[in-house]
Amino acid sequence: MIVEPLEPIEPEEERLWRYVGPPDDEAARLARLEREREAQARAAAAEEHRRQADEARRRQAIEKFCGIPTTDAFDAVRPKPWIGGFLYGPAGVGKTHEAICRVLSVPLGSGVFVGVLEYLDQARDKELGRLDGFRERRLCTIRKAEHLVLDDIGLNRVTPLSLEALYRLVDARWQTKAETLVTSNLTPKELASLLGDRIASRVLAQEFGPRVEMTGEDRRLRGRS
Ligand SMILES: Nc1ncnc2c1ncn2[C@@H]1O[C@H](COP(=O)(O)OP(=O)(O)O)[C@@H](O)[C@H]1O
Ligand SMILES: [Mg+2]
Repeated sequence: MIVEPLEPIEPEEERLWRYVGPPDDEAARLARLEREREAQARAAAAEEHRRQADEARRRQAIEKFCGIPTTDAFDAVRPKPWIGGFLYGPAGVGKTHEAICRVLSVPLGSGVFVGVLEYLDQARDKELGRLDGFRERRLCTIRKAEHLVLDDIGLNRVTPLSLEALYRLVDARWQTKAETLVTSNLTPKELASLLGDRIASRVLAQEFGPRVEMTGEDRRLRGRS
C-alpha cells in the first residue's frame, strides 16, 4: 500500500500572509490609491477652474461684442439657428430669450443685440455730439451688424426724434436687406398704428423673415400667487 505523504502543516502566520499579502504591501497599495485619488481631484479642480474662466471670457465677449446682458437666466440660453423677422407677443413669454438664442448661433462679432431704448439713447447722444469713442463704435456696429436684434420696439416714447432715429435704422437695414430680427409686445397692426407705416412696413418686410407670434404664460410671474 502506497501512502501519500501528508502536506506539511504551515505555521498559521505564514498561511495568513499567503492569502492577504504582507501588511506592508497593503499599506503601500492604499497609499498609492490615495495619491491617485488626490491627483484626480486636483486635475478635476483645475479643469473646473479652466471651464469657469472660459465661461467668464465667453460671457465677457458676448456682452462686449453683442451687447447681450448675460444675467443669471443666461444659463438656459442655447444657440438656435438664426431666423430674422418679427417676433411678437405679450410680456414675459420669452421673446428676448429666443432672440438671444438666435443671435448666439452666428459667428461672434457678426451678431449684435440692442434694446430699442439703448439704441435711441445712443442715436440721441450722437445727434447731441455726446458720444464717446466706445459708444460711437457701438452705434456704428448696431447700424452695420451682419445680424441685428432690435429688442422691444414700441417700448419707446413716440416723439418725432425717436421716430426719425428708428426710421433711419430700419430703412438702412431694409435697403441693404441686412439680417434683422425685431421683437415687440405689439402686434403688427398695433406697431403700424403706433409707429406709422413707414417704420412698420420695413420692420415687417418679408425679406427679413417671418412674423411669429409667441404665446404662453408670463415666465416672470411663474410660481408667484
Ligand atoms: N426658454 C426659456 N428657458 C428658461 N428661461 C426662459 C426661457 N424663455 C424665457 N425665459 C426667462 O423668462 C423670463 C422672461 O423672458 P423674456 O425673454 O425676457 O420675455 P419677453 O422678452 O417676452 O418679455 C426671463 O427671465 C427669461 O430669462
Ligand atoms: Mg423682452
